[in-house]
Amino acid sequence: MVQAKSKTTYLCQECGATTLRWEGRCAECGAWNSLVEHVAEPAATGGRSRYVPPDGENPIPLTAAPCADSSRISTGIAELDCVLGGGIVPGSVILIGGDPGIGKSTLMLQMGASIADGAGDVLYVSGEESFAQVKLRAERLNAVNERVHLLAETEIERVRAHIDAGQYTLVIIDSIQSTHTTRMPGAPGTVGQVRECAIELTRLAKGMNVPVVLVGHVTKEGSLAGPRVLEHLVDTVLYFEGEGRQDLRILRAVKNRFGSTNEIGVFEMTDSGLEEVASPSEVFLTERTEGVTGSVVLAAVEGSRPILVEVQALVTRTGYGTPRRTVTGVNPNRVSLVLATMEKRACLPMHDQDVFVNIAGGVRVDEPAADLAIAMAVASSYLDRPVTERTAVFGEIGLAGEVRAAGQGRKRVNEAGRLGYTRCIAPRGCARDVADVGSETVLVDSLSEGLSAGLRTKNNGGN
Ligand code: TYD
Ligand code: MG
Repeated sequence: MVQAKSKTTYLCQECGATTLRWEGRCAECGAWNSLVEHVAEPAATGGRSRYVPPDGENPIPLTAAPCADSSRISTGIAELDCVLGGGIVPGSVILIGGDPGIGKSTLMLQMGASIADGAGDVLYVSGEESFAQVKLRAERLNAVNERVHLLAETEIERVRAHIDAGQYTLVIIDSIQSTHTTRMPGAPGTVGQVRECAIELTRLAKGMNVPVVLVGHVTKEGSLAGPRVLEHLVDTVLYFEGEGRQDLRILRAVKNRFGSTNEIGVFEMTDSGLEEVASPSEVFLTERTEGVTGSVVLAAVEGSRPILVEVQALVTRTGYGTPRRTVTGVNPNRVSLVLATMEKRACLPMHDQDVFVNIAGGVRVDEPAADLAIAMAVASSYLDRPVTERTAVFGEIGLAGEVRAAGQGRKRVNEAGRLGYTRCIAPRGCARDVADVGSETVLVDSLSEGLSAGLRTKNNGGN
C-alpha cells in the first residue's frame, strides 16, 4: 500500500481558504500577501473504514440535551459576566483579543483569582511571562491565590497533559500565539500553529467540559493574529479596547454563542488593576460643557444598558473642492444619510459645508437611534444655536424626514433623568413607553420639529 504523504497547501490568513499553489493574492477574499505555507497531517489510515460509534456517542433527543445556562460560572466581575451573557459556560472556549499592553493579562489574572476564590482551581498557562512577572502582577492586583496554578509551558501536548492530570474549573492560555504543537513544523505564532493549537484546546474543552480562555494578540491591521480562522473555532470572541480616555477600557463581545453581542463592559485601569465602571455615562460626560454649539447628549442603549454620550459636530464652509466628511464613533453612512435628509427635508444646505462628527470619549455608537442627535449637533453648529439646557436626545431619522421610534425609550429617559438631563427629545412612536416618567419629554414626529424643539433660538455666548 502506498504510504500517505504529508501535503503542502497554502492557507489564507484572512479568510482561511486553502490553495495548492502560492499566489500573491487570495482568490477567495482578494487579500494580498496573505497566503502562508500549511502542511497537512497525513491521514492515519490508508483507506476508508466503516465507522462504529462508541457507546455514549449516539444522537440524543433535543429535549434530553443538558441545559448549559444552569451551570454558568460567575467570574466575580459583574461587567465581564454581563459581556459573557451571564458567566462562563462550562466547556466553552473564549477568545479575548486586544492590543499589547491593553490589560488582557491583568483582566485574566483578576478573573482567575476571583474564580479560584469561589468556584475552584484555575490553571494559568503563561507562555510569555516568567513566574516572577506574573507573581509581581498578582501582588499588585491583590490576586495572590493558592488555587491559581501557574504553568510556564508553550508546547500544547504538555499543556494538555497537565490539564488532563488536574481538576481545573478554568484554564487560561496567555497567549495562544505563544503556544505550539510538535505535530506541525513552523514557529509559534504562525497561522497553522495557532490554528492547530486552538483546535486541540477546543477539543479538550468540549471533551472535559472545562472552559478555556485564549488570550490573543491583535495584528497591525486590527484582526486577531492568524485569526479569522480562530474566530470561527471558538464560542465567544471578546475584544478589549482602549478608548479615547487613556485609562478607560471597553470590553465588547463580537461573537457569542451563549449570549448577546451587544453588551459592553467598561473598566478603568488603575494602579491596582482594572476597576469596573458602574456608571459609564458619568465618565463619558465629565468633560462636557453646557451651552456650547455642536454638542448634544445622546441617550443611547448598548445591549441592555442605557449610556449617555456626547455627540459633537463642527460645520465649516468648504474652502474648495469636495466637502469633507470626517466621522469618528458613528457609522459614516448614517451620517451621510442624516446630512442628505437635513438638506432635503429641513432646508439646511450641507453640500458646501465640511462636516466633522465625533463621539466624545472615543466611544462607538452603532444604533440608528443616534440619528436625531447627530442631526441636532450638526444643525447646532451650522446655525450657531446651542441645544436647550439639560437636554438628551434620541430617535432614528427616516428618508422622508420622519423621526422613528427607538427601542427601550423608557430606559433612555430614566438614565438621562438620573444624570440630571431632565428634558428629553424623543420620537412620538415612543409615547407609550415614556409616558409618566419623571422627566419632561418632548415628543416629535419630524426632523424639523425635533430641531426646533432642541435648539435655542439664539446663541447665548457659546462658540
Ligand atoms: P497587561 O495586562 O500586561 O496587558 P496585555 O496582557 O494586554 O499585554 O497590562 C499592561 C499594562 O497595564 C501596563 O501598561 C501597565 C498597566 N497596569 C496598570 O496600570 N495597573 C496595574 O495594576 C497593572 C497590573 C497593569
Ligand atoms: Mg499579556
